[in-house]
Amino acid sequence: MPRWDGKHPDKAEIEINPLYARGGATQVPRFELAAHGILPDTAYHLIHDELALDGNARLNLATFVQTWMEPEALQLYIDAAGKNIVDKDEYPQTAAIEDRCVKIIAGLWHAPDVQGVLGVSTTGSSEAAMLGGLVMKRRWQQYRRQQGLSVDRPNIVFSSAVQVVWERFANYFEVEPRFVPVSVDRPQLTADGVLQAIDDRTIGVVVVLGVTYTGVYEPVEAICGALDAYQARTGLDIPVHVDAASGGFVAPFIQPALEWDFRLPRVLSINASGHKYGLVLPGLGWALWRDRALVPDDLIFDVAYLGGHMPTFGLNFSRPGAQVLLQYYNFLRLGFDGYVAVQQACQRAAQFVAAGVQRLGPFHLLSDGSDLPVVAWRLVEAPKRLWDLHDLSHLLRERGWQVPAYPLPPDLQDVTVMRVVVRNGFSLDLAQLFLQDLERAVSSLEKLEQPLPHHLRSQTAFHH
Ligand SMILES: Cc1ncc(COP(=O)(O)O)c(C=O)c1O
Repeated sequence: MPRWDGKHPDKAEIEINPLYARGGATQVPRFELAAHGILPDTAYHLIHDELALDGNARLNLATFVQTWMEPEALQLYIDAAGKNIVDKDEYPQTAAIEDRCVKIIAGLWHAPDVQGVLGVSTTGSSEAAMLGGLVMKRRWQQYRRQQGLSVDRPNIVFSSAVQVVWERFANYFEVEPRFVPVSVDRPQLTADGVLQAIDDRTIGVVVVLGVTYTGVYEPVEAICGALDAYQARTGLDIPVHVDAASGGFVAPFIQPALEWDFRLPRVLSINASGHKYGLVLPGLGWALWRDRALVPDDLIFDVAYLGGHMPTFGLNFSRPGAQVLLQYYNFLRLGFDGYVAVQQACQRAAQFVAAGVQRLGPFHLLSDGSDLPVVAWRLVEAPKRLWDLHDLSHLLRERGWQVPAYPLPPDLQDVTVMRVVVRNGFSLDLAQLFLQDLERAVSSLEKLEQPLPHHLRSQTAFHH
């Protein structure tokens, strides 16, 4: 095989470490399927070594997604790796456990009748959100047809700080997205903003429990109240879907008095990511509807199950079943108290980081960990400053910390923020070390006599 000249990457080969170069193979093509295989430990080490270049998950303060589970959970993961969630008949116990998880979550979210909810596991909140949007669209169409009204030009309302999945939903399912603009003072959806955006073609309003940019909860109860009053005035019944991707497994444990869920009759459906604060490795999401009867039958497909049939609803067909079992593992392992302890520890660390950031001086906090355990801040304006949050992100990266700096959503894109997402395992000890590094980075940036060269400026925008 020709050796790589550095100019034709598609011809590149990967050298095999001599210790593993058994069976004659000393290299494998990088971008083509090799004519012959290699031994399993050779393949393992080759990939394992490359992964050393990935970031350290423990220092990844950018993601909401779980990066660690304890060894017993990993054993279960391996045991269940071959289970396909769609084969309900072949893996009836996995299906039964999925159903138990749905009922446990329905209880956490105060469904009026836990037995009556429709709930499904999904690959993540994105799939769950698509399903939530689809039900609202189909229900709106059914209602309009019954009334003899046109089903043209449906719209869906959310804030301009909504996660990108909702733009995707609107695009893929041909629904006009109506973005309620956010402002510096109110960087989330408001009841007034919703009332200005809705009309008789609104299929639903999406309220986010834990805005991705800042971790702040949108006011679900106030928005539901405004929609109740709107219905009393106009007769139009506009449902609410709560995108609780992160908050769905936080609020029940550390803000139990907050009414954001099925306690509010207007909340039709809720999604959450099992792989975020549900504490399961990726990818797992959940979508629940308060009552099976509210989901149009034509969206449900029956599959064979124990000699009978079972209703299913989802975008995917085959999908790993292991994550569902890991969710159940967490429910058994932690119980209610355990989740409270984990989320409280996250919140304590977040509030500790927030206080430290505030003390450092040049920052203004946008969130302090009181809602999601997330801290977001921006730089206070200073005319002579030679650095920005992208530079700070770059310096922190040198110490291994991954902390994104990114612009706020469209109406506020001139404002750049930095965000720390505190997840299980980011202890107070790590938080203290992080603050020390932050302080060091800020003080070395403050000493700059000219701006950093452009190529050293990080443009990280990782903030989903
Ligand atoms: C509010 C919100 N909704 C939806 C999503 C998408 O979730 P997933 O990554 O589970 O598909 C995210 C991801 O961060 C989110 O923050």
